[in-house]
Amino acid sequence: MRYEVGDTRYTHPASRIPHHEYMAEKTLVILISGRGSNLEALLEARLPVRYGAVISNEFAARGLAVAAKHGVATAIVDHRKFPDRPSFDSALAAEIDRHRPDLVVLAGFMRILTAAFVQRYQGRLVNIHPSLLPAFPGLDTHRRALEAGVRIHGCTVHFVTPALDSGPIIGQAAVPVLPGDTEERLAQRVLAEEHRIYPQAIRWICDGRAALGPDGRVTLKQGWKADGSLASPPLEAR
Ligand code: GRF
Repeated sequence: MRYEVGDTRYTHPASRIPHHEYMAEKTLVILISGRGSNLEALLEARLPVRYGAVISNEFAARGLAVAAKHGVATAIVDHRKFPDRPSFDSALAAEIDRHRPDLVVLAGFMRILTAAFVQRYQGRLVNIHPSLLPAFPGLDTHRRALEAGVRIHGCTVHFVTPALDSGPIIGQAAVPVLPGDTEERLAQRVLAEEHRIYPQAIRWICDGRAALGPDGRVTLKQGWKADGSLASPPLEAR
């Protein structure tokens, strides 16, 4: 059974048991509004973390079933029950804080958050956005990328700051825009990359390889070798 704010029932008896075999370390709370495919990728990555809860503002979010399948507790904080953003955000924060999370993960959470909420979780609130930020912040990124005629598009994992889709970047993945691409085809190609980079970025934050530095930029303790380049259209063999 799902619970709402103030209700202490959990969806699943197994929800109190860490859903993987690793020693629990960091606690994550995940916020969703819909499909939950990034949530699913994250849960399937079996990171050595504890999931406090998946919280949705929508009763109908498919992601709630994904969470339940993985034995993670779910909660609903329905934004329609609150007169304004600040009151919704404080109810949401109260629900999040019950789980004492180290990291709050936005995974398709479709509400604009107040500056007060964002500041409360500064350095421990992350988001995935379906474009190569700072290009195409906001909605309809794939349509806008096609309209702009870019040849390379992608996705970005970033820490959240009060300004929409402009926080410090943790990681990005790029895909080519192909001839004849529709919004749906492009979205699918980008989404496949989201499912790869989001679990890795979260793993790195949880094990200390990625952190928000005092200069407001992300420090990566993990070195990496450049892995070739992506040209679109591809370069001809010479
Ligand atoms: C993804 O495209 C993500 O980048 C954006 O919202 C969408 C969520 O999809 N923030 P899902 O619910 O994870 O399937």
